[in-house]
Amino acid sequence: MFIDRADLYLEIMNSNWSEGEQIARSIAELLRDNGLDSGKVLEAFCGNGRVAIPLALQGYEVLGFDISLPFIQDARHKAEKYRVSDRAKFMVSDAREIDILLKGESFDAVMIVSTSLGYYDSMTDEVILRKLRSLAKDGAILIIANTFHRETPSWNCNRVFQRYGPLVLMEEMRFDPLWSKLLSKWTLLRDDGEGNLTKELEVLTEIRIYTSTELAEILRRAGWGVDSIYGDIRRREKFSPPCPYLSLLARAIQAPD
Ligand SMILES: C[S@@+](CC[C@H](N)C(=O)[O-])C[C@H]1O[C@@H](n2cnc3c(N)ncnc32)[C@H](O)[C@@H]1O
Repeated sequence: MFIDRADLYLEIMNSNWSEGEQIARSIAELLRDNGLDSGKVLEAFCGNGRVAIPLALQGYEVLGFDISLPFIQDARHKAEKYRVSDRAKFMVSDAREIDILLKGESFDAVMIVSTSLGYYDSMTDEVILRKLRSLAKDGAILIIANTFHRETPSWNCNRVFQRYGPLVLMEEMRFDPLWSKLLSKWTLLRDDGEGNLTKELEVLTEIRIYTSTELAEILRRAGWGVDSIYGDIRRREKFSPPCPYLSLLARAIQAPD
């Protein structure tokens, strides 16, 4: 979906651009409240830059990376459109190799937005977080924003409809408690505006989701100490299980051997 049908997922991200702007505003507030008014921010799994670009508009120097070439091309194009291409740079890269590709760089903050960890397994997530730690200054800030978590009671047998412009997404979700995986069937339909829906794509997705405690433990092993946790970052609300979002702020610490 992110590579072969990047066109469809781009439509979804573009129709959610203003959500990205809201998330960026809250991230900037959190960074400032934690003493970072400017500096270098690395965004892992950045998609088409819907958070990186608004954050660059707030004065930060952002480098985003993503595995999908069409997303990165779109992000570069938008950085020019918003006149921040000097402060918002983008590269195609696999998170599992990011330490090699950015060897020698060091960032003041790292961010991961939306449910972007969990595509592989918890060991790989730990490796990715450790690699991101190796690119962060001591004391650097990590923000994980609006990621799905395991404590939400409503995952099972949940069918959700969402509209993104002319695209209608039907998502049927099931939670696998043994592997802590959220299994979803995505059916994407296009509305021609006259009441006719045509199926564009049907795809099965599988993502490992965590409790807040599990994620904090993985982060600690990877060299990140969690300072505070929230629910939806846009409102900086307290973490509360009925809300499907978990957000957290961590600091770069020494990783245990
Ligand atoms: C749920 S989307 C979130 C995108 C973006 N953070 C946002 O909020 O709009 C997850 C992103 O992770 C990217 N991705 C998946 N596996 C990746 C990997 N191994 N390395 C880098 N990016 C990856 C996908 O291409 C996709 O853009």
